Amino acid sequence: MKEREILFLQSIEDIIDHPSIRQMSHFTQHVSSVTCLEHSLFVSYMSFCICQFLKWDSRAAARGGLLHDLFLYDSRVKESHEGIHGFSHPKTALKNAEKVCELSQKEKDIIVKHMWPLTIRFPRYKESYAVTVADKICATIEFCHAYHLMRTTKKLAIYA
Ligand SMILES: [Fe+2]
Ligand SMILES: [Fe+2]
Repeated sequence: MKEREILFLQSIEDIIDHPSIRQMSHFTQHVSSVTCLEHSLFVSYMSFCICQFLKWDSRAAARGGLLHDLFLYDSRVKESHEGIHGFSHPKTALKNAEKVCELSQKEKDIIVKHMWPLTIRFPRYKESYAVTVADKICATIEFCHAYHLMRTTKKLAIYA
C-alpha cells in the first residue's frame, strides 16, 4: 500500500466502521449503481489527495468528505425527508455526523457547505472548497457511469 493510502486510512480509521457510516451502504446517491458510502469514500479520498498536494489540512478534508452526505435516507422517496433534498441534506448530514464523533469547526463547515454555491453562504475554510470541488468531480464521474472503471475506486471498494 502506498504511503498516501496509509495516511488516508489513518485519518478516518476511528469512524470508518461506525454503524452510521456503514448504514450509508444501504442508500444510493447520484446513480443507482453507486452507494452513498462508495460516493462518500470517493469524495473523502479525492479531498484528501487535493489537500495533501496543496499542503492543506488533509485529515479534516478526509473526515469531512466521509461525513458530508451522512443524511441516511432514500432521497428518491419524498416522505423520507423534509424540504428539498439538494438544499436540506447538508444540515441533516451534520446532525448525524455530530453523533458519530467530535467535529472541529472546520469539519462542520466542510459538511454543511459542501453544496456551495447552492448553499449561498460561502465556505469558511480552504478545505471546504477542496471538498465541494471533489464532490462535484466525483458526482460527474458517477453520472458518466465511470465510477466502477477507475483504479482508485476499485481500491476503495474494500472499505465500502
Ligand atoms: Fe451532498
Ligand atoms: Fe456528495
